[in-house]
Amino acid sequence: MAMAARSIEQSHITTKSLPPGFGVEILGMDVANASPSDLEIFDAICRNNPVVVVRDQKLDAAQVVKLAGRLGRLSSQHRTGPHPEFPEISILSNKKVDGKYIGAHEVGRSWHTDGTTYTKLGLVTMLYGVECPAEGSDTLIADTAAAWEALPPERRAELEKVQVVHSRLKLFQKYKAQLSEDDMRNMHDVVHPIVVTSPVDGRKALFLTKGSTKGMVGMSDEDAHKLMDELVQFATQERFVYRHRWRPHDILIWNDLATVHSATSYDETKYDRLVYRAWMRPFTTEFEEIGPAH
Ligand SMILES: [Fe+2]
Repeated sequence: MAMAARSIEQSHITTKSLPPGFGVEILGMDVANASPSDLEIFDAICRNNPVVVVRDQKLDAAQVVKLAGRLGRLSSQHRTGPHPEFPEISILSNKKVDGKYIGAHEVGRSWHTDGTTYTKLGLVTMLYGVECPAEGSDTLIADTAAAWEALPPERRAELEKVQVVHSRLKLFQKYKAQLSEDDMRNMHDVVHPIVVTSPVDGRKALFLTKGSTKGMVGMSDEDAHKLMDELVQFATQERFVYRHRWRPHDILIWNDLATVHSATSYDETKYDRLVYRAWMRPFTTEFEEIGPAH
């Protein structure tokens, strides 16, 4: 994929394709000690690929915030396991202190897209693995641009007309968030097309999620959920899916306008997991409402 090729060639940084071919792993980069020009190459790789992995990067929470902030405007995460010192990132973990989970627990274990309930779309998600189980807890990411292109033309023409109603309230209820009456009053539904344009390469992509989907414009709820289920099933076939098997100190970044993703389970009696998550909106987007869950 085209991306500041000359700069990469002149540097020690290389990329290798990740299976099934829509993401890349960055090699030869020490993010914490990278030069400004190396970090510009990192930015370009992230802008130009739906999924980016960098392994073996020892970062503390402050460095995770700094790195994520290069890629977009960070949202405060006060509802979803905020880090006590850095509310720009969430803690995803099964660990407990004094009998209480230290962060969000068991979130995202179904196919969904982050940021669907924002009025303006364009979220990028970054995860950083601090402690990772030796097995399980894989993150699955499907290429919804490739899935779109694999649909027959007549089906694509029908789907271009479909508008999805996304409900933030539904999401919060799913995660049993404590909501005040004011919170509930301020949670308006938003409508987004089911076909979007990927900022990565300008290709069309399916914009799929189960969690926030309340219905579709001009369709019965039953038909809407059936259509969403069918498209999610289609887009998440193995041929479209990258499976990230976590190692400690991995960075995993994806563009939510070109993908759909899912967390997976692990043996929580055997392993601890501690992952930092950051959500970045385009720098061009005005600050909007604060932090939905998935
Ligand atoms: Fe998610």
